[in-house]
Amino acid sequence: MSTIPATSARDRVLIFDTTLRDGEQCPGATMTLDEKLAVAELLDTMGVDVIEAGFPIASNGDFEAVAEIARRSKRAVIAGLARAIPADIARAGEAVRHARRGRIHTFVSTSPIHLAHQMRKSEDEVVEIILKTVAQARDLVEDVEWSAMDATRTGLDYLCRCVEAAIGAGATTINLPDTVGYATPAEYRAMFEAVRTRVPNADEAVFSVHCHNDLGLAIANSLAGVEGGARQIECTINGIGERAGNAALEEIVMALRTRADALPYETGVETTMLTRASKLVSHATNFPVQFNKAIVGRNAFAHESGIHQDGMLKHAETYEIMTPASVGLAKTSLVMGKHSGRAAFRSKLGELGLHLSDNQFQDVFERFKALADRKKHVYDEDIEALVDENLATAHDRIRLVSLSVIAGTHGPQRATLKLALDGRTVTEEADGNGPVDAVFNAVRALVPHEAGLELYQVHAVTEGTDAQAEVSVRLKDGERTVTARGADPDTLVASAKAYLSALNKLAAAARRLHAQDPAAV
Ligand code: KIV
Ligand code: ZN
Repeated sequence: MSTIPATSARDRVLIFDTTLRDGEQCPGATMTLDEKLAVAELLDTMGVDVIEAGFPIASNGDFEAVAEIARRSKRAVIAGLARAIPADIARAGEAVRHARRGRIHTFVSTSPIHLAHQMRKSEDEVVEIILKTVAQARDLVEDVEWSAMDATRTGLDYLCRCVEAAIGAGATTINLPDTVGYATPAEYRAMFEAVRTRVPNADEAVFSVHCHNDLGLAIANSLAGVEGGARQIECTINGIGERAGNAALEEIVMALRTRADALPYETGVETTMLTRASKLVSHATNFPVQFNKAIVGRNAFAHESGIHQDGMLKHAETYEIMTPASVGLAKTSLVMGKHSGRAAFRSKLGELGLHLSDNQFQDVFERFKALADRKKHVYDEDIEALVDENLATAHDRIRLVSLSVIAGTHGPQRATLKLALDGRTVTEEADGNGPVDAVFNAVRALVPHEAGLELYQVHAVTEGTDAQAEVSVRLKDGERTVTARGADPDTLVASAKAYLSALNKLAAAARRLHAQDPAAV
């Protein structure tokens, strides 16, 4: 008979969001400080239990972000990641010190393949490291999480020995990640059951799942781990993260809510904020959400085929297992246009769950008025794009002042571009093989740089020929990759904004000098 403690009728499962750490560390997903603060505030408001805000030793920028998120935290525990290295742990402790509730999350590899080739340490040496580093973290904070990196490829006996050592040294949460996305649900569940059964002090810690999606099994594995006794799920908004990403928070939360009959666990997440969170993270990271993505994809609640539409018109439950409103997709009532005043605009922002400071409101309202002059109807998506643009460009050193382009059948196309560079106005004319090329050549002439253009993509924010174009640009400068977006009813202006935004991000990233070489986690 299993010695795993019986679960109550509906057990509370903690949601640990790592969008700002595991999510942000994937190529091209870099966020600015303002973007990180906005994401953290939203996560805190929506009821996420733990926010992993970053990896403080990685750079001064990461440290500042974790410290500032900690200072501003309202309800959530704020975690900082640390390798099993004393300097990392001290830095993480310093960063989370200001949180109402701070956590140090320290990890070390436990699998034979990592020990032999990455750590070059024996099993005994790693156990010694666990004992020392977890105890050091526990001296700094009450709340310590320890992770066995590559747990799913670790022998069970050794994994149990490490877990027992970590709990003995003071770890309050034990995370057993599927770092390489290799496990199957049955294996992952069995691992939790076995570890919790075998480790004598297992009941002194909360067990946690952390699943990568290399085989598309991250959600199934996370839920299986919970059935095996884990009570914390580590996940990211939109499932962003290393390689194929992490388990998606919105999918976990809605699976638990929608299938409460089969999965008797509850979370504290306000599900009506999921759509907003998805859009915010997508804009901040410039990672588009695939159209057919569960819960938050553009088509997740769209019914196209005749049979489905017929069923939906007769009774929504024929083809709908959850309502759009439950994830925050309710249709709003106010249609905005050029006659809408401040009060209506403020009320629309409220409906969309967008809360701005007075300065931000003023800037976004002016952008809205300018847009409404050019576009009959301003849709919710347009307003969200304006707010996100305000957020992304608040501290930009390079700003677009004006652009005019001569285009048409007889080239070369010519762009005249005026920029404000650290407050100075500069102008350039450039030709190109097409109007976008001319605009980008003008940018290159005014802001010389080595970065190469890796991606240029355009899509319409809404329908209609007067829709705003949203342009994504990805630049690579040495090891650093950034992606940025720009929106405008004129595709060429949107292109210039996106390119400049990417250059601003590269400049900001360069300022965040590495404090020391971060581990590749
Ligand atoms: O995937 C992983 O193993 C991690 C650890 C640092 C928890 O992200
Ligand atoms: Zn991970």
